[in-house]
Amino acid sequence: MNIIFLGPPGAGKGTIAQAITDDLGIIQISTGDLLRESVKEGTELGLEAKGYMDSGKLVPDELVIGLLKERISNEDCQKGFILDGFPRTIPQAEALENSDVKIDKVVNFKVPDELVIHRITGRRISKSTGKIYNIYPDCAPNPEEDHPEEDLLQRNDDNEEVVNKRLVQYREMTEPLIEFYNKKDILVDINADEALESIIENTKKVLK
Ligand code: AP5
Repeated sequence: MNIIFLGPPGAGKGTIAQAITDDLGIIQISTGDLLRESVKEGTELGLEAKGYMDSGKLVPDELVIGLLKERISNEDCQKGFILDGFPRTIPQAEALENSDVKIDKVVNFKVPDELVIHRITGRRISKSTGKIYNIYPDCAPNPEEDHPEEDLLQRNDDNEEVVNKRLVQYREMTEPLIEFYNKKDILVDINADEALESIIENTKKVLK
């Protein structure tokens, strides 16, 4: 099963993907994570992508499409995957269509902007496991006791100013994909303004 997770920054795409992949027996592919890995490794692609990412802009299509195609040709993708953060533009969606990959379902996570900003500013990533946490008590999951502060990282682009720019890019470049996949009759909406456990359950139901 090949699935796309659509939705604005902070909708919960990464958190939900991390919570359900084991059950579904498929893997999560986050183009954001792949790009951050390239930045960390200091590759040519990483150096080019960094400026776009830090300023809240989308990385140019040709760079991301190449990165994604290379990743999905790996052996571990054979049983299926959740694409978390790809496609983000119509040309990216068309490139996916023109490849051998068949998409079974597109899950569109809907959440209001004010919640996005709150969630994103409280988000922390575990350096040791890559797991997503949140330091605000009304967000979830919170870091457990075995995750001391020094293990938690805040992304460069997780501040209010950059999130606002990411939201503008989302509206302009990514939102048209809702119509694109609606026309193909494979898109399903999920209300992402609910308790995490209930969103996880609702997502599993629509993917059964
Ligand atoms: P990327 O890493 O993909 O970021 P994003 O799409 O902006 O999405 P986020 O990771 O911010 O949000 P999410 O929906 O995964 O939320 P999460 O689950 O963490 O992209 C970063 C950058 O890379 C882009 O700006 C761009 O520059 C570049 N890029 C990546 N892909 C690209 C592409 N295809 N083309 C071009 N450029 C690309 O949740 C957020 C927080 O909220 C967490 O702390 C979580 O614990 C909490 N939370 C989530 N759900 C709930 C809930 N229901 N209740 C309470 N708390 C919750």
